[in-house]
Amino acid sequence: MLQKPRGTRDFLPDEMEARRMIEWSMREVARCWGYREVCTPEFEDLELFTMRSGEGIIEEMYVFSDKGGRKLALRPEITASVIRMYINEAKVAPKPLRWCYFADCFRYERPQKGRYRQFWQFGVELIGADTARADAEVIMLAADMLDSSGVTYDLKVGHLSFMKNLLRDLEPQEQRKVMAHLDKKDFDGLKGTLESLDKPDLDKSLIALVECRDLAEAFDIAGTIPEKDRIYQTLETLDAADVKYSLNFGIARGLDYYTGMVFEGFAQNLGAENQILGGGAYRLAHLFGGDDVASCGFAIGFDRVMVSLGEIPDKKDSVVAVVCTNEGRKLALEVARIFRKAGIQSEMDLMDRGLGAQLAHASKSADFAVVIGLREAESGTVTLKNLHSGEQKTLDPRSAVAEVASHGARR
Ligand code: HAM
Repeated sequence: MLQKPRGTRDFLPDEMEARRMIEWSMREVARCWGYREVCTPEFEDLELFTMRSGEGIIEEMYVFSDKGGRKLALRPEITASVIRMYINEAKVAPKPLRWCYFADCFRYERPQKGRYRQFWQFGVELIGADTARADAEVIMLAADMLDSSGVTYDLKVGHLSFMKNLLRDLEPQEQRKVMAHLDKKDFDGLKGTLESLDKPDLDKSLIALVECRDLAEAFDIAGTIPEKDRIYQTLETLDAADVKYSLNFGIARGLDYYTGMVFEGFAQNLGAENQILGGGAYRLAHLFGGDDVASCGFAIGFDRVMVSLGEIPDKKDSVVAVVCTNEGRKLALEVARIFRKAGIQSEMDLMDRGLGAQLAHASKSADFAVVIGLREAESGTVTLKNLHSGEQKTLDPRSAVAEVASHGARR
């Protein structure tokens, strides 16, 4: 028997319904904040992703050549694509641009619970606003979106300027190496790297910074930071909006386009793969041939949110089985149409079953049976049977629709 590729999943209808419900609650939040949906290709020129991150990232991606010999990659994330699209299509649009997306990404990772090779992100990008209020807006939006899903989480906010100030004497390549250790909290690796760079003393202040949870103390550790006022303003805005967060100056972020404010969200009930959100302020446009526009955004790991939420109680609307004899079929088709037009899910037998077998099947799959035999066909009425209570009534089709609609969610 053929199986699905490693690291991918199939979703049965119940799971898809739960996913769509949460997706729509997030969409609604994005809409209320003025973020409009965009869509970019699932594959891009490989260069889009290697330009900033280097060839090393190829290891973690699905990379292939097409028949024309072009090197392509399945997108491992969507920010780079959105910024490419901004340069191609919307460079001159009035700023700021508020965009969002809900789409799948592909990473060649070792699969485990909460870590997949195909996964979905709900993300936003705020393009062209370079202020504390812009930084604060995306964090507030992230909190609203996570709240709307019902997930319980901790939000951690940091700023790269602290770390970067301590690492200012290192080359960009060396800085990235050190920050990768910090991102993974790999302090042994950090010490080794600092020794090889002839900076063994930096480890104390870096580790102190990672462990520090107080803004004034972070400034003491890291020294003079030009972004100081902006950091204070961002945090003041978050406090005024009553966003619950903690400060964390150890956030380095895995992707290396971030320039300033960074933040991450962690689900409280997940194990190793508990990061459900990541984002921050970044600059990418200038790399792709555009202006050096400041941007800010985040992506929610949608699958992890779903794992964290667990079973979602279904709030399904009533389902109707239109059950008929041969004599009743013509009216039954008409009645099913009336129910569907009224937005009520209604199904008919496709297996040439007798009335008894149709009712037996309906009792497993529906909330109401609408029975149409010879008597109903002659009088233009239906017999509406509530399959939970057994109660039944003879009604005209429109009254039957009203009766089912008034029951709302039943199953
Ligand atoms: P990221 O932190 O790499 O950031 O990914 C965002 C989220 O995607 C993670 O926090 C995690 O929840 C989820 N995620 C990542 N890898 C996997 C995986 N293998 N399986 C399941 N979920 C996963 C970004 O992608 C940035 N583009 C975010 C951003 C937008 N920054 C600015 N704008």
